[in-house]
Parts: sequence; C-alpha cells; structure tokens
Amino acid sequence: MKQKIVVTGGLGFIGSHVVVELQNEGFEVIIIDNLSNSSEDVLEGIKAITGVQPLFEKLDLRDKSLVVDFFSRHHDIMGVIHFAASKAVGESVKLPLLYYENNLNTLIYILQELQKKESSNFIFSSSCTVYGQADTLPITEAAPIKEAESPYGNTKQIGEEIIHDTCKVLENLKAIALRYFNPIGAHDSVIIGELPIGTPQNLVPFITQTGIGLREELSVFGDDYPTEDGTCIRDYIHVVDLAKAHVAALKRLISGDNADNYEVFNIGTGKGSSVLEVISAFEAVSNQKLNYKIVERREGDVIAAYADTTKANNVLGWKPKLDLMDALSSAWKWEQRIK
Ligand code: WQD
Repeated sequence: MKQKIVVTGGLGFIGSHVVVELQNEGFEVIIIDNLSNSSEDVLEGIKAITGVQPLFEKLDLRDKSLVVDFFSRHHDIMGVIHFAASKAVGESVKLPLLYYENNLNTLIYILQELQKKESSNFIFSSSCTVYGQADTLPITEAAPIKEAESPYGNTKQIGEEIIHDTCKVLENLKAIALRYFNPIGAHDSVIIGELPIGTPQNLVPFITQTGIGLREELSVFGDDYPTEDGTCIRDYIHVVDLAKAHVAALKRLISGDNADNYEVFNIGTGKGSSVLEVISAFEAVSNQKLNYKIVERREGDVIAAYADTTKANNVLGWKPKLDLMDALSSAWKWEQRIK
C-alpha cells in the first residue's frame, strides 16, 4: 500500500519538484493547489517525468469548510508538505492582510485537521529570511530570529511559532520546518521549472529572462555593500537538491527517528555567491554577455546569507549534490524551452 502524502501548492515551483522526488521514492501524492500562482499543465509535466500523474484537487485553503471537507474525505494521509502561500516580499509590504490571511489561516486550518488524526507528519516551507541579517556566517539553526523585514518574512516566523506551540501540546503531531536559502534552477528534464508571473522579483529568473531577450537589462541592486565585490551574497541551492531534502525530512518523521516532534533545518549549499559572481557564472553557462547595470540598493536586502548545513547533513543524512553552475545551466535550459 503506497503511503499517501498531501502537497499543498504542489503545482508551484518548489512544490512540483518535491512531488517528482516523492513519486520517484514510491509515495502516492495528492496535490492541493488554487492555481493562483501555478498552472494545471504542470500535472502532465510531473507525469512525463515520473510516469505517474498525481491526484489533484483545485482548492482554496483559505476556505476552512473546504479544508475540513478535504480531510474528511482522505483518512489515510501519512503526511502533509505545506507550500501553499504567497511569497513576494515586496507585494507583502503593500498587501499585509492578504499575506497574513493566506499564509497563516491556511496553516491553522490544516493543523486543526491534523490534530484530529491519530498521528501526522507535517513539513513546513520556511525561509532563511527569518534570520534577517545574521550576526555570524555561515548561519546555523541556532542563529537568533531577527525582527522580520516584511510581512512575508513575518508569516514564516509566525508560522513556525504556530507549529512549534502546537507540537508542544499535540504528541501525535510531528513537524519539521525547512528554512530554504535561495532556490534556483529546474529539473534536468527541462519539463518543469520556475514560471514567474509578471516581472520576476528574484535574481535568477530575471537573469535568464534578460539572457533570452525578454528583459532589456538586469538592474543590480547596489555594489556598495561590505563584501568582496560590493554586491550581496546569497546561498543559491538547486531546486532538485532542495526537493530531495523534503523527502529526507519526511522519511525522518515517518520513521519516528526525530528527536523532538518539532525540528528545524537550514537547507542551502553552505556556499555564498555574490550577485556579480552569479552573473559571471551565467555568462559562462550561456556563453554570452549579460546586459546589466548597477543601481541603488533594494530596501530590505541583507548583505549576506549562506547556510551552515551541518545539521541537515548529519541529522537528515542529506547533502546537496549540484552546484551553482548546474543550477544556472538548468535555469537557462528551462528559459530557452519556455520561450
Ligand atoms: C537575491 C540577490 C538582490 C533581483 C527572497 C526572499 C526569500 C525567498 C527568495 C521566497 C539580492 C539581488 C535581485 C534583481 C538584483 N523568497 N537582485 N537584481 O531577496 O535573497 O530572497 O527570495 O521564497 O525568502 O527573501 O532573493 O533573488 O530577490 O535576491 O540585484 O533584479 O539578488 O538585491 O542581493 P532574496 P532575490
């Protein structure tokens, strides 16, 4: 009997890559997605890669009655991986209530259904943004949580606290929060990848769209930071490596090996790359010069953030296998395909 896993937001960028890895590992997947930031075509893409089309229910998790109905119809769920959330930092500043409603109410409604079950395994999509500008690099899970720079970042911090407080009183709920650094790239089949709607806010999709001619030029947000080349440093992790970390976390919960019923892991490569280094790497991968200009800093950017991955390596038994060049190469192939 296959173990059934619910993946909310499973048609999105990270969610779809996780569904592929779950199906490769023999799990049965049900995707919940409201298609607000994804396309149903991704289902065929997942089937083309794995040979299996996951079950799918179009559902807006902000409607509590729909969440209750879903879980009343699916009793044999082994775990839930929760991606469904709004994720644009800048938009969250303009629309805080939309972010607090969508990112927190949906989480609460799902946890309320899980608390009714005998035992449940829950994985939360969190973010290194909870650390803000960490005082020490690389960043470990023990780094202090700083005041959020945006409502988006705040929903990740509050989301983790909601889960932690619930796990403290619910023995039957086991949870892991994965704090992603910067997910980039696409599946090597070039069948699924990132589909940013509108103007990309993130660096790598903006680079690939500039490379393919969809964008005139990339604006580099500041080169006067206290780093080697003056541009910000981030930990860019291949989305497939990130997806595999979710399978490792899920297996840890299912096996009952988890030390506490709430654990947190930083998921990155452990290596920092500056914006200019990413641009150079892209030029090497695409064998073309990238059109960019240096402009003023972007509000809210931290100077540098990259992960100490010791805990994920040792406790999850997970290590990234792909590097920046692999990720940029896959992102570039994906951009060329969707052109
Ligand atoms: C990376 C670097 C920019 C665009 C955010 C969220 C994080 C996660 C990933 C959701 C920065 C620079 C960017 C551009 C640029 N969000 N940049 N020109 O801000 O590290 O992380 O997205 O899952 O939670 O905080 O990622 O890709 O936006 O920026 O110079 O056009 O690239 O200043 O230094 P960020 P990013």
